Amino acid sequence: MSTLHDAVADARRRYVAANPRSLQRWEDACRAMPGGNTRTVLFHDPFPLGIAAGEGCRITDADGHTYIDLLGEYTAGLLGHSDPVILEVLHDALDGGINLSGHTMVEAQFATAVCDRFGSMDLVRFTNSGTEANLLAIATATIATGRRTVLVFDGAYHGGLLVFSGGGKPVNAPHPYVVGTYNDLEGTARLLADQGDDLAAVLVEPMLGAGGCVPGDPAFLELLADQAPGHGALLIFDEVMTSRLHPGGRQGALGITPDLTTLGKYMGGGMSFGAFGGRRDLMALFDPRNPRGQPHAGTFNNNILTMRAGLTALTERLTPHALVELNDRGDALRERLNSVCADVAMQFTGIGSLLSVHFTDRPIRCAADVATGDDAARELFFFDMLERGIHLASRGFIALSLPVGDAETHAFVAAVQDFVAQRGAFLRQR
Ligand SMILES: Cc1ncc(COP(=O)(O)O)c(C=O)c1O
Repeated sequence: MSTLHDAVADARRRYVAANPRSLQRWEDACRAMPGGNTRTVLFHDPFPLGIAAGEGCRITDADGHTYIDLLGEYTAGLLGHSDPVILEVLHDALDGGINLSGHTMVEAQFATAVCDRFGSMDLVRFTNSGTEANLLAIATATIATGRRTVLVFDGAYHGGLLVFSGGGKPVNAPHPYVVGTYNDLEGTARLLADQGDDLAAVLVEPMLGAGGCVPGDPAFLELLADQAPGHGALLIFDEVMTSRLHPGGRQGALGITPDLTTLGKYMGGGMSFGAFGGRRDLMALFDPRNPRGQPHAGTFNNNILTMRAGLTALTERLTPHALVELNDRGDALRERLNSVCADVAMQFTGIGSLLSVHFTDRPIRCAADVATGDDAARELFFFDMLERGIHLASRGFIALSLPVGDAETHAFVAAVQDFVAQRGAFLRQR
């Protein structure tokens, strides 16, 4: 009788046979990059696809297969791969010259649009990535409070140097961290009380994104907002992913006002982007006129492509109406998917347009719950979806983009229905 592991081995064999040009590309890449990789998340066994082109919400790989792209560049591709308004503004920006050696004529407009969107952000500064934004938000908190310790949560991902899966990584920026359990109200209240007078900041994703689309319980996030000030710590909301879930970010949806907020991903209209901002008195630290001010440098912080694309994306394409509609579509999709897999140990978590599949029937509230998922089933799901023309992250992450419509969500539901029918015997029954 064939087992789940046989099925995965078979799926891998078919993947290798179907993707000779992607294999060749990857082998060539291994000559110049460790593991042929410059972005860890993109690697999966036996080798990742090479992507040759994208249009709308579809991508085409090196071997000519076209997929419905439900990964949306891990949330950065919210506008799809070829939004005509963004392409036009980028061409126009290029015509005006690049690397302009000074302030651009649009960065202040973009900053204003960002601050207008997020009630907690009086002032904002741009960076090149979400990682940088979080590093700077932590620096702001440690300088402003004169303290050092940062409370984070297991399973959180705040950037390449702020990885808290498995509690943390040696590559992390060297701050003293205390790692709590996500959504654990009592434990977190205890941890806050235990830090004495060295807690500088609480850094939290309002939904664990990379950690498996685990929504932050509103009561948990409110507890952080209520209790952090009493312990002398600043609350930093990492909304690099979650800001797209509601016109005012998850903070807007919940009516929570963090001291500092970080942004990234889609908000640069598809260009490299990050931002941190918040209370005026805190951000004044970076006012170059302030004699006690701190430097915040970055050659590309205001690069013209990001500034133009970001301003246009935020003001013309990512209107409150467009965001609400997309997130409603995502909620409806998640409900349909969960009804398809109601009898097996498989579930889709998330909020709105961001979803993750988990092969466990345990309720998912924290990283330990995510870890109960069956990795082999998830790998089989990934390869089976590719064979059915659906592209998502190998770890089961999905980020809908604006061009994803009914045809694409129906195709995905049908593919998942097929998977459950064909592979159900390999999945634990509920
Ligand atoms: C919540 C969160 N914060 C920060 C980051 C880091 O952003 P970047 O990849 O732009 O450095 C990410 C990236 O996935 C993220 O999901």
